[in-house]
Amino acid sequence: MTTPRYAFLQPGNYARGWHIVLFSQELAVGQVKRLHYFERELVAYRGESGNVGIVDAHCPHLGAHLASGEGRVLGDNIACPFHGWTFNAQGQCVDIPYASTIPDKAVNALGSWSVLEINGFIALWYDRADNPPENYLPRIDPWGESQWGDWQFYRSRIQAKACDVIENIVDVAHFPHVHGGIVRKFENRFGERTVTQLSTVDRDASARMIVPPNAGFDLQDMRDDQAGEDADAWGDATYHGPSIMYYYTESKSAEVSFRSWWVNCHTPVNDNELDLCSAVIFSSLDERPLPEEFTLMYPQMAHLAFGQDVEIWKDKIYRDNPILCDGDGPINKLRKWYEQFFLPPA
Ligand code: FES
Ligand SMILES: [Fe+2]
Repeated sequence: MTTPRYAFLQPGNYARGWHIVLFSQELAVGQVKRLHYFERELVAYRGESGNVGIVDAHCPHLGAHLASGEGRVLGDNIACPFHGWTFNAQGQCVDIPYASTIPDKAVNALGSWSVLEINGFIALWYDRADNPPENYLPRIDPWGESQWGDWQFYRSRIQAKACDVIENIVDVAHFPHVHGGIVRKFENRFGERTVTQLSTVDRDASARMIVPPNAGFDLQDMRDDQAGEDADAWGDATYHGPSIMYYYTESKSAEVSFRSWWVNCHTPVNDNELDLCSAVIFSSLDERPLPEEFTLMYPQMAHLAFGQDVEIWKDKIYRDNPILCDGDGPINKLRKWYEQFFLPPA
């Protein structure tokens, strides 16, 4: 087998970094949730203090799943529903209710994951080399303020590769064809752990675009309706690390003026599948309350924009040495930037 050109193409080589696995509102105190990411079975739970723990799913005793039944949270620990062995969020066995001593081997037998709860989402740190987590995820200041509301999110498990998802941020040439947009301004900026897209994209009533199946409403109709509105809109999308993108956008038109934060993220399930999630909060940019129709439609739009890309991703192959032209975005530069998150092949 030949070594792939990029480490991120190596099977089982997942990106080092923070990956969103849940939104805070999905995990109440005392609740245990099953997760399946990076080819591993995991459980997330929220202890009585509100802290979230993420540990490997299968008990080191006789292998029960820690979320069987409904799972059991004791204080800030998780207890196995089979014989009651109890573990803290660092995976240490802290109690075996029927034993006088905890066997040495049991003390650190359960794998645990670093967790960050910030901006209303729960992220886990993945690193094959076990380096300590980095502190690169910024706060989204308005999150938690009442006029912005809570995250409205859509998550779907799709057939796609993470490297295709991230490439979207520099792919200026796909906007007219996939999203039906006219690109007025487009710029990418690369930082150490960030890559940013500054864009102004108008709708193009005459362009064809991809209409995802199960859209729930007629995207083409909706686009046609809004095509003449001449909204003055701009957006700043920034990946912080390999899988979490924040997007801030403002849009002003005669009908509705709003600002919005999106969190778009993908978390690998295995080499061929990932969970794609888009979440939005938004608020009015002026004195006018947002029309109800808009507040219902806008969160769906966020996910549908991804849905248009998914239609391409699920069928495409990956060209590791593509033929590019002068109108393409900095695709090779993005690939080099993305490569930093992966262990070189052994
Ligand atoms: S299998 Fe978990 S306590 Fe026995
Ligand atoms: Fe796209």
